[in-house]
Amino acid sequence: MSDALVLVTGATGKTGRRVARMLRERGVAHREASRSAAARFSWEDRSTWDAALESATAVYLVPPSFDGPGAIETTAEFARRAATAGASRVVLLSAPGLGEQGDAVQEAGLALTVLRPRWFFQNFSEDFLRDAVLGGELRLPAGDGQEGFIDAEDIAEVAVTALTEEGHAGMDYELTGPRLMTFADTAADIAQATGRTFPYVALTADEYVTEQIARGVPEDWARFSAGLYDYVRSGQLASLTDDVEHVLGRPPRDFTDYARTAAAEGAWQD
Ligand SMILES: NC(=O)c1ccc[n+]([C@@H]2O[C@H](COP(=O)([O-])OP(=O)(O)OC[C@H]3O[C@@H](n4cnc5c(N)ncnc54)[C@H](OP(=O)(O)O)[C@@H]3O)[C@@H](O)[C@H]2O)c1
Repeated sequence: MSDALVLVTGATGKTGRRVARMLRERGVAHREASRSAAARFSWEDRSTWDAALESATAVYLVPPSFDGPGAIETTAEFARRAATAGASRVVLLSAPGLGEQGDAVQEAGLALTVLRPRWFFQNFSEDFLRDAVLGGELRLPAGDGQEGFIDAEDIAEVAVTALTEEGHAGMDYELTGPRLMTFADTAADIAQATGRTFPYVALTADEYVTEQIARGVPEDWARFSAGLYDYVRSGQLASLTDDVEHVLGRPPRDFTDYARTAAAEGAWQD
């Protein structure tokens, strides 16, 4: 891929940042794009798209986060412009159960690899669950549902492999970590790694929504996120795959190692 240029959207996010780093380490030319990245790119401002896509041969696509037909139409238009710019391959960051964004990419004639990761480990250290760690309690409506939590490093490595090597077009990877865990298990691992008290407290969905609204979270978002935890509680995500090992030739990283490393790197120092 000597003439390759990979456009990395979502380049400041939990996976995009790592995809960009790994491409750099492999000496693959790439462009880092987002609203706050070096190449300014906004899903809401289509005048930013063509400059981001110029000469791109492949795209790591972190799709628009807004829901509904608007997001599908936006992805479809972006995919058409990517094809016109000369790109031939897209690796799409999706989620379990989502379909239409991938269809939009394929209809533009691009070779597509779909990644459907489960909950990222890094939600606890780099995103919306970090405050819970600092606050000393994990209060969620996830019951004792199990989930195949996964390291964003593994997701990024799978993405870079699919972006730079052959054999991944048309694949739909369901990416999980190495073991099923409840939120109580993750909290116990973080407590052990940090030396802090960090119990998991199972809330009802209504209790959770009420607490979130009291903290200033918009009601729509509180209800949407309650639905995500309910999905875990229902047990529908209580399964593992070997897709990470299939692509990378090694098992996925374990949560205990992530928690130890994140604690040692100061992720939970206030
Ligand atoms: N987190 C999880 O556990 C998880 C699990 C499964 C699937 N997913 C999927 O992964 C996707 C990304 O989630 P994430 O947690 O990885 O997010 P993230 O870490 O917050 O990254 C989102 C990235 O998108 C960029 N971005 C946000 N709004 C944008 C906009 N309007 N225009 C252009 N760029 C924008 C952000 O950068 P700027 O702010 O600089 O624009 C950031 O680089 C979601 O679709 C989610 O469904 C997440």
